[in-house]
Amino acid sequence: MPRVHEILDLEYKPKLPKDMSMGIGIVGAGEIVREAHLPAYKIAGFNVVSITDLDTTRAQALSVQYGIPRVYETVEELVADPDIQIVDIAVPAEVQPSIVELATNHGKHVLCQKPLADTFSNAQSIVSMCEQAGVRGAVNCQMRWAPGIQASHTIIKRGWLGDLIQASFQVNVLQRFERWSFLRDIPTLEVMYHSIHYLDSIRYLFGTPSYIFADGSKYPGQVCAGETRTLIHIAYEDERRALIYDNHNNWCGQDDWYAAFRFEGTRGVIKGTNGALYNYPTGREDTMSFISREIDEDYWFTPRLTGRWFPHAFIGTMGELMIAIEEDREPVNSVRDGLETLQMVFAAYKSMDERRAVWLHEITG
Ligand SMILES: NC(=O)c1ccc[n+]([C@@H]2O[C@H](COP(=O)([O-])OP(=O)(O)OC[C@H]3O[C@@H](n4cnc5c(N)ncnc54)[C@H](O)[C@@H]3O)[C@@H](O)[C@H]2O)c1
Repeated sequence: MPRVHEILDLEYKPKLPKDMSMGIGIVGAGEIVREAHLPAYKIAGFNVVSITDLDTTRAQALSVQYGIPRVYETVEELVADPDIQIVDIAVPAEVQPSIVELATNHGKHVLCQKPLADTFSNAQSIVSMCEQAGVRGAVNCQMRWAPGIQASHTIIKRGWLGDLIQASFQVNVLQRFERWSFLRDIPTLEVMYHSIHYLDSIRYLFGTPSYIFADGSKYPGQVCAGETRTLIHIAYEDERRALIYDNHNNWCGQDDWYAAFRFEGTRGVIKGTNGALYNYPTGREDTMSFISREIDEDYWFTPRLTGRWFPHAFIGTMGELMIAIEEDREPVNSVRDGLETLQMVFAAYKSMDERRAVWLHEITG
């Protein structure tokens, strides 16, 4: 029987390193850095020492807003800064390998953006660059550190769900992807840039599956070239199954939107909502309830969670990389681990193209 303090403490808050002085240099001064990286790092107290962007005015504006000491004109200058231990990358995926190359050549650790790369072979080359340089590489799939997901991880780790059976993410909101110019013309949109978080979280909680059957479709008249509605069925060798149902074209108003998750096992169930997708763009806290026969067969616990997927979970991805550097081990969000999330992404697209279930081992490069 779990003790009361365990039930009250679901250990979902992002952890911080002992040494908070590690220098961070940021590449990219776009929306995600402005709205998530820098607000999160300010809350955590991380040491951002420099920033660069192709558009230097953007980097300068964020340097003023967040008191970042140095703005560099080029990535080459930034990676040469001896005060930087970690290069934090937030640019479109196709640019990421070239920046990882520059950073690892200078012996810097890297936090890569999701998606890790636009092709599986580019992702593999990022892993090789990090491993050959002997630096730590991590991926910013920060949903793992969203309060509802991290609390679920604790509950699962403690065995309160028993044998895992079923995971689902069900999302029905309005997201105008065309607001980002780099998303407008790409043929692979929703899974690559949004449901990748759900795929990664499913892997984190339930493990890596065997095969995927996916369907992606558009909305009549949509501006973007890629899919904006997806249905993904995920299967394992045993009885575990997972489902992602995701529509980004809900025009009925925010009162009708929902973003729910549910994780079921033989001994318990977790159900909750992903607060970041409500009250958009401000968001709200995640909600979560759980029941477990390991504790009480009839009682739903409803802890109040604080912190959000955006920005607080970004403390989790960077914090885990820093702790891994301190402890001289691979981060749990390592670039090598991220390859399996990308295998799920590319298996989903292959499944859409070929209208069949695709095994992850078919995605090789
Ligand atoms: N982890 C998440 O939840 C999350 C959320 C949103 C976006 N992202 C990722 O972050 C990345 C950026 O997204 P965004 O919304 O900030 O886009 P954005 O278009 O607002 O910003 C991208 C910035 O990168 C700069 N840039 C491009 N190439 C560069 C280069 N070679 N050197 C320096 N700067 C360069 C651009 O000038 C721009 O300022 C994307 O890969 C996206 O997938 C992740």
